[in-house]
Amino acid sequence: MRVSEQELYDLMKNKLMKAGLQEDAADDVADVLTFADHRGIHSHGAVRVEYYAERIAKGGINTHPHYEFEQTGPSSAVFHGDNGPGHQAAKEATEKAIEMAEENGVAVVGVKNISHSGALGYFVEMAAEKDMVGISMCQSDPMVVPFGGTEPYFGTNPIAFSAPTNDDRMITFDMATTVQAWGKVLDARSKNQSIPDTWAVDENGEPTTDSNAVHALVPVAGPKGYGLMMMVDILSGSLLGLPFGGHVSSMYKDLTKGRDLGQLHVVINPAYFTDKTQFKAQLSQMLNELKEQPAAKGYGEIYYPGERGRLRSEAYDKDGIEIVDDIYDYLKSDDVHYDRYHGKNRFAE
Ligand code: NAI
Repeated sequence: MRVSEQELYDLMKNKLMKAGLQEDAADDVADVLTFADHRGIHSHGAVRVEYYAERIAKGGINTHPHYEFEQTGPSSAVFHGDNGPGHQAAKEATEKAIEMAEENGVAVVGVKNISHSGALGYFVEMAAEKDMVGISMCQSDPMVVPFGGTEPYFGTNPIAFSAPTNDDRMITFDMATTVQAWGKVLDARSKNQSIPDTWAVDENGEPTTDSNAVHALVPVAGPKGYGLMMMVDILSGSLLGLPFGGHVSSMYKDLTKGRDLGQLHVVINPAYFTDKTQFKAQLSQMLNELKEQPAAKGYGEIYYPGERGRLRSEAYDKDGIEIVDDIYDYLKSDDVHYDRYHGKNRFAE
């Protein structure tokens, strides 16, 4: 099914309002979700609406949050999210971080007590659009073994980075710290397919190709990804006095309570470190040089981080965004949700 960006946004916004979000919040959440689908990050777009709608309807996302921005130093602040929609809290916190970095060169803003916030690329690009560098990271629920372990401890704890160039390109690197997203395992299960033995482990901590035997995901690049996901957890959890590691709330277990998740957004104003124009020109040159590099056999060409998402957006602008039929039917329906998530675990099957 192909839909226009506007139709997708409208459908998601309507559904979120029907579930109970105020219009301004539904606007923000739908905007972040549309960004994800438009870039081809379908794991964090419309596919999530039914889950959010159920959590909103059951009280696990505060529909009347009292946000509080607490500036704790010239370059530091804590945004209290009151378990409101994570997308909205993260957006407002990033806007504040950009203002602070404009004034003081650097801003480090922690966001605490929020729900899931989707694709982090959205927030770092807000900074790059203002000619700044954005770095964002956040906690998520435990589903990854520590390197060499058998039981999940950390989440897929993503980290994102964006920087401007002096042309219309933007560098956007945005990744979970696992080899693959959990959604890809679910996808393989639903199609009765096997998975590469590098994605996940079974209950003995052994690599598995059986998607049904998956017990936990593995960190990207072994001990290095393990260290990275720990860093993300510390900076977006413990640093803000929030639950950490294996204590982070489950996405699906109890949809009636707020998730109390944390994030960290760092915004750097290049003008405080170098000549801003030169900085952006150098990044453009870097991308040009990368694009001119010879590609290895089987690769066709070299892409810079974020380029494939942009190419997908251009294609979607012409042909419409690709959405699974069932998701489109749900978005068009009058139903708010189908009671599919509350109480579920093992990562909602
Ligand atoms: P991915 O594996 O699709 O892409 C990771 C990065 O690699 C991207 O920056 C992409 O531009 C780059 N890339 C991919 N192929 C490339 C190529 N051929 N050449 C150059 N660069 C290339 O992303 P992943 O890890 O599946 O994450 C998807 C999304 O999930 C992200 O937006 C992330 O923020 C989000 N996420 C959110 C969570 C949350 O709790 N809010 C938890 C985990 C992930």
